[in-house]
Amino acid sequence: MNKQALVEMKGISKAFSGNQVLTNVDFDLLPGEIHALMGENGAGKSTMMKILTGIYERDTGTVFSKGQEVQFKDAKEAEKAGIAVIHQELNIIPYLTVTENMFLGKELTVGKTGILRMAEMKKKTEEYLSRLGIDIDPNIEARELSVGQQQMIEIARAIAADTDVLIMDEPTAALTDREIEALFKVMRGLQEQGVGIVYISHRMEEIFKMCDRISVLRDGEYIGTKVIKETNFEEIVKMMVGRDIGERYPERHVELGPERIRVDKLSHEKKFRDVSFSVHQGEILGVSGLMGAGRTEIMETIFGSRKKSSGEIWIDEKQVNIRNPYDAIQLGIGFITEDRKDEGLVLDLSVRENISLTNLKRISSQSVISKTKETELVSKMIEKLRVKTSGSEQSVKSLSGGNQQKVVIGKWLGIDPKILILDEPTRGVDVGAKKEIYQIMNELTERGVAIIMVSSDLPEILGMSDRILVVHEGKATAILDRQDANQEIIMQAATGGNSHEKSGS
Ligand SMILES: Nc1ncnc2c1ncn2[C@@H]1O[C@H](COP(=O)(O)OP(=O)(O)OP(=O)(O)O)[C@@H](O)[C@H]1O
Ligand SMILES: [Mg+2]
Repeated sequence: MNKQALVEMKGISKAFSGNQVLTNVDFDLLPGEIHALMGENGAGKSTMMKILTGIYERDTGTVFSKGQEVQFKDAKEAEKAGIAVIHQELNIIPYLTVTENMFLGKELTVGKTGILRMAEMKKKTEEYLSRLGIDIDPNIEARELSVGQQQMIEIARAIAADTDVLIMDEPTAALTDREIEALFKVMRGLQEQGVGIVYISHRMEEIFKMCDRISVLRDGEYIGTKVIKETNFEEIVKMMVGRDIGERYPERHVELGPERIRVDKLSHEKKFRDVSFSVHQGEILGVSGLMGAGRTEIMETIFGSRKKSSGEIWIDEKQVNIRNPYDAIQLGIGFITEDRKDEGLVLDLSVRENISLTNLKRISSQSVISKTKETELVSKMIEKLRVKTSGSEQSVKSLSGGNQQKVVIGKWLGIDPKILILDEPTRGVDVGAKKEIYQIMNELTERGVAIIMVSSDLPEILGMSDRILVVHEGKATAILDRQDANQEIIMQAATGGNSHEKSGS
């Protein structure tokens, strides 16, 4: 390599209170390169990047920035040296506006006065957002935005920092295809200007499409670096998990039973109208659509956390009245939300407490929690989902992103739902764990559970669903049998093209 590396990290090690999470890891980034950093959940990717940007202190090793040895004290210092980060955890402040979030900590002011150049900041915000192909009012508060839109703001903020190193830690996790395309265009533009990008993602298709090299970590150890043109999917998976995982989607052989839930002309004042579908016992209904199409809102309405304006819901051929999530849970509905940070988990509590929260009923008799039963359930879930923890007492906050997602799933599996709604169940989850989640879904359907899976990952929708409901701007534009569906047909229905109506029994 004759180009001067933008970043070079050598022999990096790090332990958190005795738990070794990185051992002697090397990494480098060249100008104009998109370099993927891959590994299973908990492999140490985010930690490695937090060490680079001074958020964590390393135990051993050296870091060079453009040939100079450095030791950043914090992210601000790293940014001054030309390194910007899009963190895996969103750092959006809900009660600030889009513009205020964009310029947080680097507000534009008039000379040395504290007077803000508001108009200019707004204009810049609009400019960067439109570069990313999205249209959001810069004056609204961030809490009104979807997770995907918040992620776009986070991305815009990092790009606006105008640096020569950009670290993207799962930037596309909450985005759908259209936004991802816009993001990729921007990345290509930066690449042409010589910016080096570290790209962390569990979406293999993206990695192979966008990256020049891949470095793989496993259990905090450096496994190797490959030039993308000289490697393939199987090799990378093997480097990551240390074994062959076989097919990405397990086979499904489920006999469908009678209708479990039927939603009839369900409408919500602003978000969607006249949505009808049914799911049978043992069936997986995939729900596809673009960001903002109303998929999550439909699910929230079924679960009672949003108020419907009209329409009916039937469970096991009886009409039900779901006024709130409590009613829904009583009727056997489980809901794994897309927003694990806000709704799915109590971050300050331990893995054990999070898993047993919803399961209190099952493990307690007369409201006394049986320690043995709790321990049994929690360790079963940890083992089943292969949650990487130092123990069930570890706080959920300090788990890696993908492992947090597994805890959310474990939390609901314990209630033995009749109907399970999964909103982006594998977002941020590694290939091995994805397959485990798919297998659990299959096991549940074999027991007669009806599953509704909202997902922005088209291969996943096609790989796992028996039927597919496509939503566009609050309307159901298609219900497809799996054998009649492909990516093009779904995308067309999702963007309001031809509707392929096919009534679902
Ligand atoms: N602040 C912390 N305190 C204790 N342990 C931590 C802390 N941060 C990370 N860890 C642990 O370090 C390990 C590596 O975590 P890291 O977040 O780097 O993984 P990752 O590769 O980014 O995974 P993912 O794909 O799930 O995002 C995990 O086992 C995690 O629990
Ligand atoms: Mg991470």
